[in-house]
Amino acid sequence: MSIASDARFWDRTSRKYARGAISDQAGYERTLARTRALLKPGDSVLELGCGTGTTALRLAGDVRAYLATDISTEMIAIANEKQAGGPLPTLVFRTATAEALAAEAARFNAVLGFNYLHLVRDLPGTLRRIHAVLAADGVFVSKTPCVGDMNPVFWLALPVMRAIGLAPYAGVFRATELDRQIREAGFEILATENHATKGDDRRPFIVAHKR
Ligand SMILES: C[S@@+](CC[C@H](N)C(=O)[O-])C[C@H]1O[C@@H](n2cnc3c(N)ncnc32)[C@H](O)[C@@H]1O
Repeated sequence: MSIASDARFWDRTSRKYARGAISDQAGYERTLARTRALLKPGDSVLELGCGTGTTALRLAGDVRAYLATDISTEMIAIANEKQAGGPLPTLVFRTATAEALAAEAARFNAVLGFNYLHLVRDLPGTLRRIHAVLAADGVFVSKTPCVGDMNPVFWLALPVMRAIGLAPYAGVFRATELDRQIREAGFEILATENHATKGDDRRPFIVAHKR
């Protein structure tokens, strides 16, 4: 299994993912409002693992430039379809990973990653790349399922689900571990919040500042 097989998994499931409803709409709106409040009109924003672009389409109008990226070309194709009626001038969708973007010259005032960090295979490496693509004083905003804090039945089933192609690669870590890794990548954590409106969904919303 590799990054290429991850991309294939998400390509395969993209249409189904696009049809799915957001499980906690009020919690999602809270995350959007909180994120919007952190962005400034002059900002250049990078979103990683943007999926079908739902969040990008809601936030891109509020900033100077918004590059929404995903490993899956099919996810990006759907995101572009959603824009077909009237593209937002500030928004660009592109197939890319943090690793590829870090090798380019562009730097961003904010990097966003929602339901994404648990899917990368090298969490410390990805966090270092995110740090690298941020401009001085930039912020990294994320909300990540911490599978290690969930019911063990769930994470014990993951390898089986993955073996039969029903689940993607997912890292199993706790919120405390994620917090530590973000700090070790060179960030100061400014806020950790729970936006769930249906119990605690084990997805801390974290605002981190580039040191
Ligand atoms: C659970 S979906 C979340 C999509 C969106 N951020 C949301 O919250 O609805 C995870 C997305 O991350 C993408 N992804 C998985 N691994 C990735 C990687 N290493 N780099 C970039 N994107 C990745 C998948 O293709 C998928 O679109």
